[in-house]
Order: sequence, then C-alpha cells, then structure tokens
Amino acid sequence: MGIVIHRLVIDTEGKRVQFQEGFESFAARHGLTDWEGWFSPYDDGTYDQVLQNIGENDVILDIGAGDLRLALRMAERAKKVYAVEVNPKVIGPALEAIGWDLPRNLIVICANALDITFPSDVTVAVLLMRHCQHFRDYVSKLRSIGCRRLITNARWKAWVEVIDLTRPGIPFDRVRGGWYACCCGAVGYVPYDSDSSEEPFLIHEVEGCPHCKP
Ligand SMILES: C[S@@+](CC[C@H](N)C(=O)[O-])C[C@H]1O[C@@H](n2cnc3c(N)ncnc32)[C@H](O)[C@@H]1O
Repeated sequence: MGIVIHRLVIDTEGKRVQFQEGFESFAARHGLTDWEGWFSPYDDGTYDQVLQNIGENDVILDIGAGDLRLALRMAERAKKVYAVEVNPKVIGPALEAIGWDLPRNLIVICANALDITFPSDVTVAVLLMRHCQHFRDYVSKLRSIGCRRLITNARWKAWVEVIDLTRPGIPFDRVRGGWYACCCGAVGYVPYDSDSSEEPFLIHEVEGCPHCKP
C-alpha cells in the first residue's frame, strides 16, 4: 500500500557513506565541496514544512533527494516527483528497500543535478541542502524551465522558506536597511539609515549582494 511506503526503514543513514573509501574522490569529481555531497536527512518538522507547501497539481523536482524518504511522502500528495540524487551508495540501497512499492509518479534519477537538463514540467523545486554551494546555479536552471517556486533551507539553514522564482530580486543597492536574501544563496543584514521608514523584519529578496561572485 502506497501510504505506508515512507515508513520503510532505509538503512543508508547509519552507514555514513561520506566516510567510506572513495567518497572524497567521488565528491571532488562532482565538484561537491564543504560537506555539499554529504548525505544527512533532516527532521520531520523540516519535512512537514515542505509538505505543507505542495499541492496535488504540483510537479516537484527534489534536488539532492538523499534516500528518498521525503520524495516518497511528496509522491503521495503531488502529481509527480522527480528525485535527483548524485550518490549511488545512497540511492541504490534506498531503491532496493522500496522495491516493488516504488510509486509510478516517482521518477528517480541518479545524477549530478548540475549536469542534467531539468524537466520542463516542474512547478516546484525542493532543495533541502544546508551546505549547498551551487544555489545560484539551481535558481537560474529552475528559472530557465519556468519553475515557479523553490522550497529550501539552503539560505537560512535553520528554517524552510518558499521562494517565488517568478519575481526577480531588487538590486542590492536599493536596500536601505534590514535583512536580505540573495539569489546567490547569501543572506545578511544592512544597518538602517537613521531616517529609514522600512519595516524592521522585512526580508528583501535581492540580486547582486556583496557576497555575489563576479
Ligand atoms: C543533506 S542531504 C539531504 C537529503 C534529502 N534532501 C533529505 O532531506 O533527506 C543532501 C543530499 O544532496 C545530495 N547532493 C548534493 N549535491 C548534489 C548534486 N549536485 N546533485 C545531486 N545530489 C546532490 C547529497 O548526495 C546528499 O544526499
């Protein structure tokens, strides 16, 4: 029964694939640095925040899908889920554990998400990857296929946000004070002008912040 699939215990977590021999050269070959290639699942609270933001008509691209535990849950409520995971030692045992219960609307792709063309029917992307070093690449690839929303913890780390990809950020130099989040993945705070009338807790969606690489 589809409903119970996500309760399967998929034992890739305990094996800590990132500490196995060969992982370092695999990660280097894929350009994954600073823990970006490490598999580590998040907590149910994080997954619930994602699930609350997807609907039955959504076609989802799960970037860095790990052992598919979230992808399986998303497939229960969305139209289709493409799950992309670079690490064969994570995705292989996960597929083995799921076996014949693999839902028809869950398309699993073992590949580097930076290398593949994203499917053109994707409406929402999910990027749960706090150590993501390629945020800007994903945003521009998603925009190029017309994907409308990105659900991610890559920028703020401690919580999940939903980014409206249809609205470009404002130029950074127009921020007169307050928090900002940039399409390059950086976040930060600009001290207020004394005469600024901006709301203190407004987060400005920006482009061209001081952390952007030239
Ligand atoms: C922190 S884990 C999170 C796994 C999953 N999103 C979850 O929440 O359970 C990040 C995953 O992203 C994968 N990953 C990182 N960079 C990737 C890339 N360029 N293409 C595909 N997968 C990638 C890693 O192999 C790892 O399994």
